[in-house]
Amino acid sequence: MPIPFMNLPLQHEHLIPDVMKEYERILTSSNFILGETVEKFENELAEWLGVETAVGVNSGTDALVMALQALGVSPGDEVIVPAYTFVATADAVVRVGAKPVFVDIDPRSYNIDPEKIPAAITDKTRAIIVVHLYGQIADIDAIRTIAQQRGLKLIEDVAQAFGTQWRGKKAGTYGDAGCFSFYPTKNLGGAGDGGAIVSPHDDVIEKCLLMRDHGRSLTVPDMVFEMIGYNSRLSPLQAAFLRLKLPEVDEMLSDRIENAKLYDSLLRDSDLVLPEMRDDGSHTYNLYTIQLRDRDRLKNFLREKKIGSAVYYPRPLHLQPCFEYLGYRERAFPAAEQAAQRVLSLPIFPGLKKREIETVAATVLEFLQNNAPYGSRK
Ligand SMILES: Cc1ncc(COP(=O)(O)O)c(C=O)c1O
Repeated sequence: MPIPFMNLPLQHEHLIPDVMKEYERILTSSNFILGETVEKFENELAEWLGVETAVGVNSGTDALVMALQALGVSPGDEVIVPAYTFVATADAVVRVGAKPVFVDIDPRSYNIDPEKIPAAITDKTRAIIVVHLYGQIADIDAIRTIAQQRGLKLIEDVAQAFGTQWRGKKAGTYGDAGCFSFYPTKNLGGAGDGGAIVSPHDDVIEKCLLMRDHGRSLTVPDMVFEMIGYNSRLSPLQAAFLRLKLPEVDEMLSDRIENAKLYDSLLRDSDLVLPEMRDDGSHTYNLYTIQLRDRDRLKNFLREKKIGSAVYYPRPLHLQPCFEYLGYRERAFPAAEQAAQRVLSLPIFPGLKKREIETVAATVLEFLQNNAPYGSRK
């Protein structure tokens, strides 16, 4: 039997009758813009995250753009961003007119290396965006200390780490703003695009509420616009879908962690670099990413055996054509560049069966056995 890289229907098939009821209710009322369903989701999300308010928006990318703007990042400013993440993290910085300044990652966790941040700070630096890549919390204590000492805003890109925890607090609730994505493949995935912003600062929440709806006044909403905003409202249809999935997210996260543990036990003695094994909730394995020297050959071998795998990400941001204008060169960020050449993510989705994980692991081990010099981490 083929083993896909992802299987989204598994997460919501059983919810379809309830989803259809909710959709019917919304379609009948024609309350398509914001309103009660979105508000209910925002309240439930805030409670789940342990914060006072969450603002539902159209995507994780928009969440980053609005958080940056609400925190005062403006044209001419610089924002520190890891060199290895999804392109949207840095796009958002450019969207508010600022300049992304890349910093290399820690090769073990794939997250921004706090030791490399100070050298990237200049008079123009206004903020740091920390990404909890693959679901693993970045070194948030160290990064927060740098931000505090240097007077910088700290934004968490939690797109891949919904539900990840660190010392009892959820990822996204450490910084000046936390930006979430409900892109379908995320830990809490919608039936389309969606996102949310949280912040401990009332003024940031208020600006994001204004911005997502064209700058429409919250007190005099009838065609009074207080600022130039965006059209970035979370759809009630998405909110309804996410409300039904939210109560099940804990179970889905435990599934991801259990799946990771099983891979770990099966692959531990191999020469692969495995993800850090955390069972304190600080890694929720949105992606289970291994590293080996000849990643592409393994990927092809898995494909021949009908096993899905994927590369997140084959090119670090400083080598993307869209950031050529920033003037970075090859070898600027060795850890990011090595990760781009060596990482491969294996199927980890909730509902993946034990025997499927065993098959994937056995196939990986078979490849390593037959390709000793290529499978090595050296
Ligand atoms: C790290 C990271 N940041 C930002 C985003 C953007 O989220 P969205 O696709 O909801 O705009 C993603 C999603 O793919 C992501 O993985």
